[in-house]
Amino acid sequence: MCGIVAYIGKQPVFPILMKGLHRLEYRGYDSAGICIYNHNRLNIYKKRGKVSDLEEFVKDKDVSGTVGIAHTRWATHGEPNQHNAHPHYSQFEDLALIHNGIIENYQTLKKELIKQGRTFYSETDTEVLVQLIDYIRVSSRISLTEAVHQALSQVVGAYAVAVMSKESPRSIIVARKGSPLVIGIGKDEFFAASDASPIVEYTNEVVYLEDEEIAVLSLSAKGKPKMEITNLKNVKKVPLIQKLEMNLSSLEKNGYPHFMLKEIYEQPQTIRDSLSGRINMELNTVALSGVIDHKEKFLKARRIIIVGCGTSWHAGLVGEYAIEELARIPVEVEYASEFRYRNPIIYPDDVVIAVSQSGETADTLAAVKIAKKNGAFVYGICNVVGSSIARASDSGSYMHAGPEIGVASTKAFTAQVSVLMLLALALAKEKKMIKKSSLEQIVRAMYELPEKIEQVLKKDPQIADVVKIFTYSRNFLYLGRGYNYPLALEGALKLKEISYIHAEGYPAAEMKHGPIALIDAEMPVVVIATNRGNYEKIVSNIQEVKARKGRIISIVNEGDTEVKALSDFSIEIPRTEAILSTIIACIPLQLMAYHIAVQKGCNVDQPRNLAKSVTVE
Ligand code: G6P
Repeated sequence: MCGIVAYIGKQPVFPILMKGLHRLEYRGYDSAGICIYNHNRLNIYKKRGKVSDLEEFVKDKDVSGTVGIAHTRWATHGEPNQHNAHPHYSQFEDLALIHNGIIENYQTLKKELIKQGRTFYSETDTEVLVQLIDYIRVSSRISLTEAVHQALSQVVGAYAVAVMSKESPRSIIVARKGSPLVIGIGKDEFFAASDASPIVEYTNEVVYLEDEEIAVLSLSAKGKPKMEITNLKNVKKVPLIQKLEMNLSSLEKNGYPHFMLKEIYEQPQTIRDSLSGRINMELNTVALSGVIDHKEKFLKARRIIIVGCGTSWHAGLVGEYAIEELARIPVEVEYASEFRYRNPIIYPDDVVIAVSQSGETADTLAAVKIAKKNGAFVYGICNVVGSSIARASDSGSYMHAGPEIGVASTKAFTAQVSVLMLLALALAKEKKMIKKSSLEQIVRAMYELPEKIEQVLKKDPQIADVVKIFTYSRNFLYLGRGYNYPLALEGALKLKEISYIHAEGYPAAEMKHGPIALIDAEMPVVVIATNRGNYEKIVSNIQEVKARKGRIISIVNEGDTEVKALSDFSIEIPRTEAILSTIIACIPLQLMAYHIAVQKGCNVDQPRNLAKSVTVE
């Protein structure tokens, strides 16, 4: 939610900021703005809408300069308009600030600042912060750095901020708590951003700022760069410089019309990457270092609690089914937002698995902190290397799906499920709950996943064709049983988030307890009918839909006859082991949602009101 980028150095700052904003636009696209220092002043330009609207707006403006900050917004406080867009000035335009996060006590602070004579021009919590810093700086006659320290000690909430000042234009101050911030160290220059994507083409040396740390990035009069990091208690910190492993081409569309389609098509490779080094072809076995290193914790676990949000929560549900089935460890799956506030019972011998693509979701991060506070062992399954959840976890496994830019998660879901399946197998193996032959069979099936996904991708034109007639449907129902139930939830989520069609996922048998009332000739029902175990049951559920004239689109295994005969449309996918079936069966669901949204003319990569990285609660 909101992306921030800052630069100080010798290069023209404008193209760096604009390219950075484009890369961070997945984090919010309600408005965008920049502040560049030139002609002895801080020049702010901001615009409601997308980064491209801002680009158009500044075409005739003087954007020369080598120091600046920029922001792309997902609105929390105050509607998405020009006034509320960032950067925000302090009262006399001496300071400019950008912010990702929420200042929870902003009302109290605002009242006090108004009493002190400050005027506000926006409804945002961010303007309160810049005014507070400036007020402290002026009234106490202290340096900007000290004022930032004092102001941040007074605020309650989450922030990643960058501040510029007219008086000290050769430095930028950045700080974080709860929201992500990474600093890039170039030759004679510094970058700072919400993630590494705006930085990667300039340097691969980065420092991930920790919570409550403040960094002053400056250039001496001779242009010598200097970085000083302190925490809120003014204790100096030695920066830990890390090497960035990110491929620039993974941030481009590479000829695809949308990132979402590109990411759907990347799945054969991302599955290969997520399994690579973790399954052994010769021995037909699995080895997950995070589990091996902490074997005792897992073997002694009273239960496993999986926390996540959105698509990651759906992957967690698939994980629950597999871990309970194979390793016989009780598993609970919780929405992180509920878990963190409902005073959950957490035992020191619980293992909490946090699933998060971004590794920055505020609720999931908070759930991790609560779990750790209660002594549980936390295992993170994240995609973004060095992200907050990855760092806050005791151990974990990266998904290795590469950057996911499309707001609707696709390749991250299949990578999350792959890692959870590896985890289930590794635990079953360690607990000696699985026969060698069964383990070998599943591992062999894992090897075949990328090729089978490729076969499904070849059906893309057929899928696009099938869904054409449903483009203007107003509701969709998705049904599945067993492993396919979480997939029904995920299929419905994909459709609603990018096409704005109301869709619900249900366990097929639960349909009789409510949704069946909605079924008529106008209602498309997507049935995922790939399970062998409860095939007859799902056939009965389909009959129940047919009897009410519902229209069936089924996802079936190759060679299926019974479900196919009952369906209006069927998409055949290659067979695999039950625990792996969601990894293949979700591909047609992703493509269906994609094509419906494109046919409706929706912005699939940046659906309205959504943001990819939800760093506020
Ligand atoms: C947002 C995204 C979803 C994602 C969810 C959880 O809602 O739009 O695609 O599944 O956040 O994000 P995480 O990064 O924690 O997986």
